[in-house]
Amino acid sequence: MKIIETPREMYDWSRKMIGQGKVIGLVPTMGFFHEGHLSLMRTAKQHSDKVVTSLFVNPIQFGPNEDLDHYPRDLAGDVAKAEAAGVDILFTPNSERMYPGDNLTEVSVHSLTENLCGAHRPGHFAGVTTVVTKLFNIVQPELAVFGEKDFQQLAVIRQMVKDLNIPVRIIGHPIVREQDGLAMSSRNANLLPEHRKAALSLSSGLNLARQLYAQGVRSTAALKQQVQEHVLAQKETRIDYISFVHCDTLQDVTEADAQTVLALAVHIGDKVRLIDNGRLELSN
Ligand code: PAF
Repeated sequence: MKIIETPREMYDWSRKMIGQGKVIGLVPTMGFFHEGHLSLMRTAKQHSDKVVTSLFVNPIQFGPNEDLDHYPRDLAGDVAKAEAAGVDILFTPNSERMYPGDNLTEVSVHSLTENLCGAHRPGHFAGVTTVVTKLFNIVQPELAVFGEKDFQQLAVIRQMVKDLNIPVRIIGHPIVREQDGLAMSSRNANLLPEHRKAALSLSSGLNLARQLYAQGVRSTAALKQQVQEHVLAQKETRIDYISFVHCDTLQDVTEADAQTVLALAVHIGDKVRLIDNGRLELSN
């Protein structure tokens, strides 16, 4: 595996590969790899000749009071893991290289970014769509793989690609979970041991909503009430949102059906904010 640090070298490498008829698959990440990231890399490998993983903690998608400074980092560990997963290029630009100069341009998607994380993290999605556009331009992939844990992010990126005729096929990968159900996230590394039980309230809250749905409960107000009580029963949880939305439009729904996704964002203690999501109706 080769490490590339500059956008110029990355672009030149990609043009050369494309000239040789190779299909490039991109996995955009912010590093601190876990099994979730590695499964995105393996999926990219199944669909492409060359896999590029970008590792860039993108400052413009973090708000002033968010965890940019505490975002977990481990370059040496990430290099070893990406190499073992069969990645060809680890693209690790720094901020000066990604954002030289004035940066007067931003890519933003409307409507889909207004609720859920968009309502709680102003500017976050514009930061994501701007950096992902830049990565697509630099890496020139034919396809890119994103995790479904960031359910809203995936919907926003699919919309952006469609609206802007960006010739990149977007592949979503199901959430990878720990054995106890916790959705894998780099941010789990910042959880204190005593917060683990509270962190599990997201996935167990989702399971609770699924059970109630299977028993016939359709009112999302009633479902929300139960999930909210379940999460708040754990110490040091603070809810950002518990929302029942349509899987494509991300609009709130009052009556749950097969298209309904429960999305949650919960602060655990002072430093960690976790998200999780899933359809209420499980397909067989
Ligand atoms: O999902 C992430 O890790 C980031 O939002 C992404 C897509 C790499 C953009 O910085």
